[in-house]
Amino acid sequence: LKVLVVDDELNVRESIRKFLEIEKFDVGTAVDGNDAVEKLSSEVFDLVLTDLRMPNMDGHGLMEWINEAGIKIPIIIISAHGDIQDAVKAMKAGAFDYLTKPFDPDELILRMNRAVETGAFQKSREIDQMSLGLKDDLIAEDPLMLEILTNAKQAAASFASILITGSSGTGKEVMARYIHEQSSVSNGPFVPVNLGSIPESLAESELFGHERGAFTGADKQRRGYFELANNGTLFLDEIGEMPLNMQVKLLRVLQERKLQRVGGTIQIPVHLRIIAATNKNLEEEVREKRFREDLFYRLNVVRFELPALRERPKDIEALSSFFIQKFGKLMGKPDLSLSEPALKQLQNYDFPGNVRELENIIERACIFASDSQIQSNHLGLSTMRPLEKEIEFTEQNLQLWEIEKAYIKKVLSEQRSNRTKTAEVLGISRQTLIRKIQELDLE
Ligand SMILES: Nc1ncnc2c1ncn2[C@@H]1O[C@H](COP(=O)(O)OP(=O)(O)OP(=O)(O)O)[C@@H](O)[C@H]1O
Ligand SMILES: [Mg+2]
Repeated sequence: LKVLVVDDELNVRESIRKFLEIEKFDVGTAVDGNDAVEKLSSEVFDLVLTDLRMPNMDGHGLMEWINEAGIKIPIIIISAHGDIQDAVKAMKAGAFDYLTKPFDPDELILRMNRAVETGAFQKSREIDQMSLGLKDDLIAEDPLMLEILTNAKQAAASFASILITGSSGTGKEVMARYIHEQSSVSNGPFVPVNLGSIPESLAESELFGHERGAFTGADKQRRGYFELANNGTLFLDEIGEMPLNMQVKLLRVLQERKLQRVGGTIQIPVHLRIIAATNKNLEEEVREKRFREDLFYRLNVVRFELPALRERPKDIEALSSFFIQKFGKLMGKPDLSLSEPALKQLQNYDFPGNVRELENIIERACIFASDSQIQSNHLGLSTMRPLEKEIEFTEQNLQLWEIEKAYIKKVLSEQRSNRTKTAEVLGISRQTLIRKIQELDLE
């Protein structure tokens, strides 16, 4: 590790240098802020140890320069006794840590390691986010989400159909747009279609277009969503709502990559990427014969299941800051921040409405926050939905079936009624699970 030691006192500088070199650090030194700026401009360091009071440019000036230059490097302040006020100011300006002179060399090593570990983590995270090509509107910091995005970026490069599942408000559409942006057709259009909101009678002409005179009211030729999305991405949202007869037609177009407008005779070739999304359990829909199995396999070439927001604590924090910034600016409160207890409360909340709900909660909180901090009571979570009541084993005289029923119910709900996964968690076969569901009246 390469460390820059900045101090105007030769004694201090040299003793730190000698000690760190014995500890196998690679050490550079600077006599003041100006000197440090010069060194930092020409060499890459992993850490800066700096005194505060120095001639020419002092420690505060140096920190300011480092921030403005955008150099991501942890800074540890070594200040003299009595400079506590100064040290606090430096910490507020972004220093990682501070030590007062004279200090215990082992303590210094400890703090340095901690700074570098945290610093290294931040660096790798930034690289992650950069290499993922995330824009301002997709926030992801939780490892769960970063992994999904890494896979999504990879899948985007292929032309395979992609299915995005996850409950309401988890960011399925945001994700679909991300895949489009990362794909080879990113210069083409991104066309979202909400299949849940198109009346069944219009679905075919909306999707595939129609010729003039195809039906009463069709007084003009019209291109459908498929043609509009040509050379781009067609986002079929709420695919689980698609009527069965339309599913057949969709399957045919996906297989042949050609379509016929309603009332038309020619086959029009289409070249596009399909991304479908649903908050339904499509496997279940297939089982219940409400969704065609062949279409399911066509769409489910690559699958991304977005986790619920409560399973991504780091995203709760990052998204909160993001929304606070957004609404704070809109409402003329640009300095708003979140108090520690308020953040805790958010991280303990179960967010049935996921990111969309968090966005609403923060918007409301920004309205109610009078000073610069959002407090717990601004979140309005008093009507918080209780987490599912869990079994109290302290309860007396429970019969075994009651415990079994409660537990199966809990796992079913955790697995969003997916029976295959539930059976897996419970360590029983699917058939056994289905039998128990019937016997215990869990339907
Ligand atoms: N990772 C994210 N970063 C920033 N904003 C997000 C993120 N995920 C979701 N949002 C925001 O939350 C809201 C809901 O997201 P989106 O519409 O993508 O969810 P969805 O899964 O499609 O929901 P539904 O199933 O209800 O259609 C949107 O306003 C979106 O901008
Ligand atoms: Mg959606």
